[in-house]
Amino acid sequence: MSAPKKLFIKTYGCQMNVYDSERMAEALGAKGYVPTDTADDADMILLNTCHIREKAAEKVYSELGRFKGLKAEKPDLKIGVAGCVAQAEGQEIMRRQPLVDLVVGPQSYHRLPAMDDAVRSGEKALDTDFPEDDKFDTLRSRAKAKRGPTAFLTVQEGCDKFCAFCVVPYTRGAEVSRPADRIFREAQELVDQGVREITLLGQNVNAYHGHPQGLAGLIWALDKIDGLARIRFTTSHPNDMDEALIAAHGTCDKLMPYLHLPVQSGSDRILKAMNRKHTAENYLRLIERIRAARPDILLSGDFIVGFPGETDQDFEDTMQLVRDVHYGQAYSFKYSTRPGTPAAEKPQLPEDVMNERLQRLQALLREQQQATQASMVGREVKVLFEKAGREVGQMIGKSEYLHAVYAKAPAEVLGQVRRVKIIEDSPNSLAGALVD
Ligand code: 5AD
Ligand code: SF4
Repeated sequence: MSAPKKLFIKTYGCQMNVYDSERMAEALGAKGYVPTDTADDADMILLNTCHIREKAAEKVYSELGRFKGLKAEKPDLKIGVAGCVAQAEGQEIMRRQPLVDLVVGPQSYHRLPAMDDAVRSGEKALDTDFPEDDKFDTLRSRAKAKRGPTAFLTVQEGCDKFCAFCVVPYTRGAEVSRPADRIFREAQELVDQGVREITLLGQNVNAYHGHPQGLAGLIWALDKIDGLARIRFTTSHPNDMDEALIAAHGTCDKLMPYLHLPVQSGSDRILKAMNRKHTAENYLRLIERIRAARPDILLSGDFIVGFPGETDQDFEDTMQLVRDVHYGQAYSFKYSTRPGTPAAEKPQLPEDVMNERLQRLQALLREQQQATQASMVGREVKVLFEKAGREVGQMIGKSEYLHAVYAKAPAEVLGQVRRVKIIEDSPNSLAGALVD
């Protein structure tokens, strides 16, 4: 038998790509590939890319340029581009970077084994179709190896919302939900392999309709799996937060008190121009209902500053919304023009205006994040321990609120949910002590 071929996958962007990279590794595992964590000894390099902002897309080309020397030393090395840049730019990638042998869009990963045959026989391979068949059905079931205590599980892909700034509806296509029974089986398999926490993923995960009762129905179905301790989901759209899902935050013990609910802007004028189909007021009322169901929920969000036409007053409205909500954590970005999206046609704001607004917004968000972390000191949380820390005897896990928590603990806590009293907060984590 010949030596196994080595596969190096570098993942950019969101958690859906992390999940997809795992599934690509499994698909190519069937062709004799084993994962490696350096590009240097790989027989195939795959970049699983992100197209959400210009910087993310450009990174791919600079990374590809760095493989020139490797490819010269090792002519059998195959280089592939997957993910959203692959979908958006297709053939153009091979034109711009002739080193690339393979381009595969996010809906075609189940075709990787056949594409591997093609590139091994010296051809170039390109597949950016949106096939009718479900790629996850055709991919082998997940490898039987033992896993860590947390896992991602994609339940929904694509987006029909068409926010004016966003490439996702073009790169990932229309909203598609995987049937609940298949997700249930996959979740059960993960739990059998040692997983205690599953994060359900989707570009618009709360628009999930693979269960008659939507995402809440799926969560309640997964709630029945013995051994599964925690359920999370991301990313949600405010307009798809239905009553059942809000209620589940108060009544489903396995559903964690953390919600990422992007609003993007606090100005109704800008929200309209963004085609968000909700107002700032709608969002604030929604947050009230969610907090009524689960008062301690930690809220997270996404913001864009400098959307075309954003005035000083529009930006102040965003700052005010942030003050009104008080986020535990959030992401904020300068608007980035994406070719093919409606907002790309509009006059852009000067860079220095965007920079100044981003700095102010980030300072406010940081202040709120730090205040939230500081408020945890003295409280008891439940931590799912995931790995050993750098210091001897130290273990790291996540609280219900997704805070990283360090504690001195024996190795046996790995994979367990344990009570921890928080002693100290630092900018990105909390330190605590085991209670029992
Ligand atoms: N420019 C800046 N940020 C963007 N996002 C999406 N598209 C753009 C863009 N063109 C942000 C949004 C979204 C997050 C995933 O990325 O805030 O919620
Ligand atoms: Fe993009 Fe808007 Fe869809 Fe989110 S809801 S993926 S921001 S189009």
